[in-house]
Amino acid sequence: MANGMVGQRAIVMGGTSGIGLAAARLLVEEGAEVVVAGRDGAKIDAALQLLGPKARGEQVDASSADDLKAFYSRQSGFDHLVITVSGAKGAGNFRELPLNELRGGFEAKFWPQIMSAQLSLDTINSNGSITFLTAISARNVSPGISGLAAINAAIEAMVPILAVELAPLRVNAVSPGVVDTPWWNWLPEEQRAAALKFYEDQAPVGRVGQPEDIAKAICYLIDNTFVTGTVLEVDGGLRLK
Ligand SMILES: NC(=O)c1ccc[n+]([C@@H]2O[C@H](COP(=O)([O-])OP(=O)(O)OC[C@H]3O[C@@H](n4cnc5c(N)ncnc54)[C@H](OP(=O)(O)O)[C@@H]3O)[C@@H](O)[C@H]2O)c1
Repeated sequence: MANGMVGQRAIVMGGTSGIGLAAARLLVEEGAEVVVAGRDGAKIDAALQLLGPKARGEQVDASSADDLKAFYSRQSGFDHLVITVSGAKGAGNFRELPLNELRGGFEAKFWPQIMSAQLSLDTINSNGSITFLTAISARNVSPGISGLAAINAAIEAMVPILAVELAPLRVNAVSPGVVDTPWWNWLPEEQRAAALKFYEDQAPVGRVGQPEDIAKAICYLIDNTFVTGTVLEVDGGLRLK
């Protein structure tokens, strides 16, 4: 990072696992003070072991407006918000897709990410940044992912408009391809390995992503004060296949 992050304060909503944890780690290495937030206390403890004394952890459910309001009221100002809150629901062929599953997908990802951003606005430094995490599914034309496309594209559609409305606060998103994180643990081990191998073979770069690949992109968007309203694709070229 050109400027380093010394003296900067960052919150990673969903920073206790996978991409968010890798982003928190890189931010700490660059000198930032970091708060990682998630629902599970055990994950927070494990994350803090890894991150060391420059990090703090807080238990927050980002699908609850009350939880978020209380959380932000406890922060005494911060510069950067990274929102890596996930959801795994909403996939399936459209004909058979139960619409309550798709609603559940919006409840687990779209609403928590948008609420996390909106409720931060009184506390975040207006010269800082918000970075959302979307997904390759927003633009990838694959059968079975129309629901995931809708959830992620809904966030991506808001990014450039928020970048104009909320300026000078910068607003961006990173759109990852397939990344080897605990997100995939909903699959039984054998199926998980087969799925990652499938995408590894598909990707022009010949591998799936590691959380650190995405963390570097997040930190780039935080650091480069000339970038706003951008959705940065970091997918090993998978979207091209
Ligand atoms: N992995 C991939 O292949 C991939 C691909 C494309 C896009 N993405 C996107 O990248 C982002 C990060 O994914 P990941 O792979 O790093 O997933 P992950 O390892 O499952 O991490 C998700 C994080 O979000 C937290 N979280 C989930 N729901 C929350 C809530 N309601 N409130 C607060 N925290 C919550 C989790 O902690 P708790 O469970 O303790 O709350 C965890 O820290 C997600 O938006 C995901 O959709 C991932």
